[in-house]
Amino acid sequence: MRIGIIGCGTVANRHAAAITGLSEELELAALCDHTAAKAQAFAEKYAPEAAIYTDHRAMLEKAGLDLVVICVPPYAHTDEVECAAQGGIHILMEKPIALTSEQAWRMVECVEQAGIKTQVGFQFRFGEAVEKFKALQAEGKTGRVALFTGRYFSNALHADWWRDRSKSGGQVIEQAIHLFDMMRYFMGEPAAVYSRQENLLHQDVPGYTSDDTSATVVTFRDGGIGVITATNNAVPGKWIGDYRVVAHKVTADFVSANIATLTQTDEAHTPVIAIDSERDVRREQLRDLINAVKTGGTTRTPLREGATVLDLLLKARQAAEERREITL
Ligand SMILES: NC(=O)c1ccc[n+]([C@@H]2O[C@H](COP(=O)([O-])OP(=O)(O)OC[C@H]3O[C@@H](n4cnc5c(N)ncnc54)[C@H](O)[C@@H]3O)[C@@H](O)[C@H]2O)c1
Repeated sequence: MRIGIIGCGTVANRHAAAITGLSEELELAALCDHTAAKAQAFAEKYAPEAAIYTDHRAMLEKAGLDLVVICVPPYAHTDEVECAAQGGIHILMEKPIALTSEQAWRMVECVEQAGIKTQVGFQFRFGEAVEKFKALQAEGKTGRVALFTGRYFSNALHADWWRDRSKSGGQVIEQAIHLFDMMRYFMGEPAAVYSRQENLLHQDVPGYTSDDTSATVVTFRDGGIGVITATNNAVPGKWIGDYRVVAHKVTADFVSANIATLTQTDEAHTPVIAIDSERDVRREQLRDLINAVKTGGTTRTPLREGATVLDLLLKARQAAEERREITL
């Protein structure tokens, strides 16, 4: 399969590594960045033969691609999904897929009408520990999930666009979204949300309008409760996204998607399962998409999932602004 990348920045490097790891199936054939030098430098690193573009429309029209990885910042999404869908090109797209519900659902409608395969960059669904918990859940061995608590702790100024809430959506929408996706993955559809989102510690940083301190409570249709906190003023150089899941018969402590301790709580001997894996979750995410293309099956995280979690987070933001719980 011929694959192209739009947006040759930070996260594109992770995808390029995953693509290179599947080189028997994939050829990194084209690269697009509106700054040509970035695409050139990227080509030198990963695919010297790749065609270089500065306009995604030209790339999607001319490069003969089967699959495109979309890695532009949230504010920069225009019609790349629509152009790919028109060309029958399958899509792997980074989160958040948009900054408005309208744009997100337009994309979903477009790809579903075209019948192409899509995958959103929620790579943590492919962690070995996450898969183990999901397998136990599917077998009825966890019982109902009652509680999820997670924290997203970072401390970095990131890119200019990241600090600007109007361009990134803010920390909850751009970063903690991974935890919200995981919470939904385990607990199903939310019923209500309350949130507080503040910029408490970066008010003196020019252009910093993102939230840097937040707490969000989500209740689910079956009554389950989730709490996610986030800060961008924790330990510098660390990105911590850990969480705990309490189900009727199992309590799980996730250090990451690949590392967790699952303790069975309904038996006298409380057996413990410890998972400690180094699986490349992005490669698995890509493999799942390729497999869906080949078999005509579905991916684990189609674009519709990206729009659904975005809607939850837009409601969380509204709840924070209006200081009230919002029913979904
Ligand atoms: N899944 C994850 O764990 C993860 C991790 C990091 C970033 N991301 C997401 O990936 C996306 C990109 O983040 P990043 O950190 O790589 O950003 P970045 O700023 O490092 O890179 C973005 C690149 O896109 C290019 N670009 C911007 N607009 C463009 C356009 N219209 N056409 C072509 N190129 C364009 C920029 O020149 C830049 O090279 C964001 O949505 C971010 O949330 C996801």
